[in-house]
Amino acid sequence: MNGAAARSWERLVLDCRLIRLEARVLLETASGRRREWLIAHGDEAADEASAERFESLARRRLAGEPLAYLVGAREFAGRRFAATPAVLVPRPETETLVAFALANAPANGCVIDLGTGSGAIAITLACERKDLRIVATDRCEDALAVARRNAGALCAGALESGRLSLRRGDWWSCVGEDERFDLVVSNPPYVADDDPCLREGDLRFEPRGALAAGARGLDALSAIVDGAAPHVAPGGWIALEHGHEQGEAVRALLSAGWRGVATLPDEAARPRITCARPFL
Ligand SMILES: C[S@@+](CC[C@H](N)C(=O)[O-])C[C@H]1O[C@@H](n2cnc3c(N)ncnc32)[C@H](O)[C@@H]1O
Repeated sequence: MNGAAARSWERLVLDCRLIRLEARVLLETASGRRREWLIAHGDEAADEASAERFESLARRRLAGEPLAYLVGAREFAGRRFAATPAVLVPRPETETLVAFALANAPANGCVIDLGTGSGAIAITLACERKDLRIVATDRCEDALAVARRNAGALCAGALESGRLSLRRGDWWSCVGEDERFDLVVSNPPYVADDDPCLREGDLRFEPRGALAAGARGLDALSAIVDGAAPHVAPGGWIALEHGHEQGEAVRALLSAGWRGVATLPDEAARPRITCARPFL
């Protein structure tokens, strides 16, 4: 028996240098046992295979790999979404965009989620509002595969019936000329290409194409706004997530052809969503 296997479940948690909560989550993944069991049996010796798996996961986490990739999932808006390195790990601040969508999508409306990644926004809307028709797009096929898997697990009926559809394409390129939506939502990439945060912490492991968007981080937001006008139904909305210092720049993108342009705070009171309506 090696040193790791001789240790108790609780000793593995205490010795690994991770914060306790993360260590416990990784131990669940490594052992296949529930947290309650691991705590109740904390003094018992861990089996060798679980201990080795745990120590390997803990090393990767200490090197910065996002917890969500190591366990293969992240909770978003109360549901568990599969997450792989092909998709951005869904963030709690994006729940503010979902709350906006839930509050403003009209009954039986059509919604498009541009850059759906794991499908967190689109699938949450499909689960919460059975009256909505939802199109979710991404240019990355591997991301769409994760979104499809999440949709199959969380709202299979919506996918099968076509109430939720997934499309591959560069922003508006996969949307028909005549297609109109009551609500356009997007959490696009918005980090400046040379932002040092891309070389730090968890972000190093997330797809660059989900994070970086040109010299000022505005290329994706600008492309979405540029193509939006013909696709937002009269009385509809566009709502875009962005960095907390980009509100003014995003309002400027929407300064011509849009009304009611406003930037809203997220749960942490940082200005993170800008919304607008077409003039018609
Ligand atoms: C910041 S992530 C957001 C993912 C997800 N909507 C969320 O909120 O967790 C941005 C997504 O936009 C996609 N994307 C980037 N450039 C794109 C483009 N030109 N056309 C369509 N999707 C794009 C990326 O692949 C990525 O999945």
